[in-house]
Amino acid sequence: MKRPLIPCPTSIEYLGGERSLPADAISYVKDETIPNEGYRLTVTDAEATLTFSTDAGRFYGVQTLRQLRDENSVVPFVKIEDAPKFGWRGFMIDSSRHIQTVDEIKTFIEAASRYKCNVFHWHLCDDPGWRLEIDRYPLLCELGAWRDGWGFGSDNMERYGGYFTKAQIRDIIDFCAARHIMVVPEFDIPGHSSAAVHSYPYLCCSGEGGDVKTSAAVFDGVLCAGKESTFDFCNGVLEEIIDLFPGKYIHIGGDEVPKDNWNNCPHCQKRLKEEGLKDGEALQGYFTRRIAAFIKAHGKTPIGWNEVLEAGLAPDDIVATKWHDREGRCDEFANRGGKIIMEETSHVYLDYDYHRTPLGQTYTYRPQPDSLTEEGKKNVLGVEAPIWTEWVETFDRMCYMCFPRLLAVAEIGWTDPAQRDYAEFKARAEAQRNVLADIGVKMAPYEDWDPEK
Ligand code: ACM
Ligand code: ZN
Repeated sequence: MKRPLIPCPTSIEYLGGERSLPADAISYVKDETIPNEGYRLTVTDAEATLTFSTDAGRFYGVQTLRQLRDENSVVPFVKIEDAPKFGWRGFMIDSSRHIQTVDEIKTFIEAASRYKCNVFHWHLCDDPGWRLEIDRYPLLCELGAWRDGWGFGSDNMERYGGYFTKAQIRDIIDFCAARHIMVVPEFDIPGHSSAAVHSYPYLCCSGEGGDVKTSAAVFDGVLCAGKESTFDFCNGVLEEIIDLFPGKYIHIGGDEVPKDNWNNCPHCQKRLKEEGLKDGEALQGYFTRRIAAFIKAHGKTPIGWNEVLEAGLAPDDIVATKWHDREGRCDEFANRGGKIIMEETSHVYLDYDYHRTPLGQTYTYRPQPDSLTEEGKKNVLGVEAPIWTEWVETFDRMCYMCFPRLLAVAEIGWTDPAQRDYAEFKARAEAQRNVLADIGVKMAPYEDWDPEK
């Protein structure tokens, strides 16, 4: 009679008995005392009531009801009180290394929304392809969206690529909004910019563009931080991104920026001197501060991978995504009031295979580690899991890598860690197989989830 709910609610009491419950038999009640995104659900013989204070809470209550219903629309008598632990329960899709269709993206979003995820971080440009239509810079899609060959070990030498039109992106934003998911676009600068530099060679230090990349590495396709024309370009692209995406946040990347070009560029060296900067790291800090200020002046909040914290920005000026932070800068930032999102390679990088990151390891991720003070813990916005697609060529492969591990991440984002029980979670996750299959998502076979390391 118990139902395999994911994420596990804050409290659930099975009252004994069950009933058939058609959708039109439910009373929806607004009650301002229910927390944001939370809901209360009561099903007995006498009543079926969903109580909430926000539309998101109502939506999450409906998702829970959906999971409570069996194939005959029978729901057990329950009393559920529920609200999320974190306000940020995200997933990131890399559409650069391999691109997905609009329908595939929607299928993935639909699946994530069933488990109460609420942020879609969209990695839209990188060295192997630019994927976002920008009117002012049409060559980004005419040239930067295409590479010579499929790359990444494929012997298919056909031109590979594509991009999302603004109309397609609006369609996806609307699809997300109906599911209470915020879309956070990523414009990854100044590194990972080979596709932009190929399209507009003046953007790099040498002025000689180079290829749209076909392999996995950190490349020197880096925007020149000395030339003013680089900032004109970034601001121009950002203005269109700000117009297109209604959410509060813009991700500006900032990860893995090699400094070799900058060290040998007269424009960059002139900038260093004029600004009194000591080296390339400091120049990236300068770059980040300017881009962050531009975004802030437009009423949005910038986010960056943890490298952006080198810029020494104030807690109010940027949010950091912690992915690989050897120096502990995210902890330091959170402990002095900065907001962070937990997205570490060790537990939630869903492109790592199940041998390296078994489901059990993902499930034990703690977004509020003891390295944070009590104040620092409060500044953890939540958790996010990326699917990088260097080695994820097809949608089925993407689903294999993400399900069930994204279900674990969804539960980490929603449910208090004291309630987590891995053995019991595995059974609940396996019970999602048919639900996901109906949506169009093929989950990895159970025996693949926890292989020998
Ligand atoms: C990253 O994985 N380069 C953020
Ligand atoms: Zn330069």
